[in-house]
Amino acid sequence: MSLAHKLARPALLTLTPYRHAAWEPSLERLNANENPWRPTNDVSAAGLNRYPEPEPQALERRLAALYGVPSHQLLVGRGLDEGIDLLMRAFLVPGQDAVLQCPPTFGMYAVAAQIQGADLIEVPLMRSADFTIDWVGLQSALSARVKLVMLCSPNNPTGHCIPRDQLQALARQLADHALLVVDEAYIEFSDTDSVLACLDDHPNLVILRTLSKAYGLAGARCGVVIAASDIIDLLRRIRPPYSMATPTQEAILTALTEEALREASVRIEQLKGERSRLAQALKTLPQVTQVYPSEANFLLVACASAATMMTRARRAGFLIRDVSHHPQTRECVRISIGTRNQNDRLVEGLRLS
Ligand SMILES: Cc1ncc(COP(=O)(O)O)c(C=O)c1O
Repeated sequence: MSLAHKLARPALLTLTPYRHAAWEPSLERLNANENPWRPTNDVSAAGLNRYPEPEPQALERRLAALYGVPSHQLLVGRGLDEGIDLLMRAFLVPGQDAVLQCPPTFGMYAVAAQIQGADLIEVPLMRSADFTIDWVGLQSALSARVKLVMLCSPNNPTGHCIPRDQLQALARQLADHALLVVDEAYIEFSDTDSVLACLDDHPNLVILRTLSKAYGLAGARCGVVIAASDIIDLLRRIRPPYSMATPTQEAILTALTEEALREASVRIEQLKGERSRLAQALKTLPQVTQVYPSEANFLLVACASAATMMTRARRAGFLIRDVSHHPQTRECVRISIGTRNQNDRLVEGLRLS
């Protein structure tokens, strides 16, 4: 029995997936109750009157090439948020199974787990040790109920990475009883190795990547789940049909040209440079007590009063994020790295009382 079948919600193993209308572009479509005319001002290539390709194969092939994995090991979704939701729905039996996470971290893991009716087990990061993982605490929190371990590297909102060998050791330990999901939404901004290279060594490893951050495509809503093909096949069974809209598919295929990718690499380097510059500038502000090292496109900043930082930023015309609701990041704000000009204006605004 494959690992995906062993861990899947039993109800899904007998589920008959929705059968969408046949997709054969060479034939005229009178099979999906679509409107035969394009709407006014439709600038799409495929026609907005038509449903999009139900399983977006061209898009999945392009993204598989981008990440260097075979297409049968990748599932595309409407942002990573959809991928996270599908994982919870595929593997967690409500009222029985649990998700383990290390807060403070990306909020959608907890929300998706709770929507699914799963338990949430939390092992807080250690603020006193640069927000590293409490491995001893994590070991004692692991139980047979834990089906998904959600780790984020670089972590949102702390910006730190988890070394690859530590992730591999955990994947080995969880081997045939839980999936290790590593969210690498920000990995392109980091110098730490991605776990992608060890995918084939760990049948229980699931990697999340998104076009929202390094590729500047947050508005297109596109993220991918990368894992062994039995896990991807299971997620495909429960993914809604036609989930990637035609304008999204077309925009992404247009946006991921070789030239655009070269431009994205230049911008990543630019952002990393700005990250160091902004960190130095923030450290000169009297109300800032610490700027944590970051491998992402944001900085976590501890200060005398997060509320005052928020007010000053707003007065200067900027929104930044108060992350004080997490007990481990009391009086902290998260600041996304902007352009050089934005960063300079923000620091000046924060300096003014
Ligand atoms: C760690 C992390 N994972 C996933 C996401 C969601 O990504 P997407 O825009 O692809 O839904 C975010 C968004 O901020 C994030 O910070």
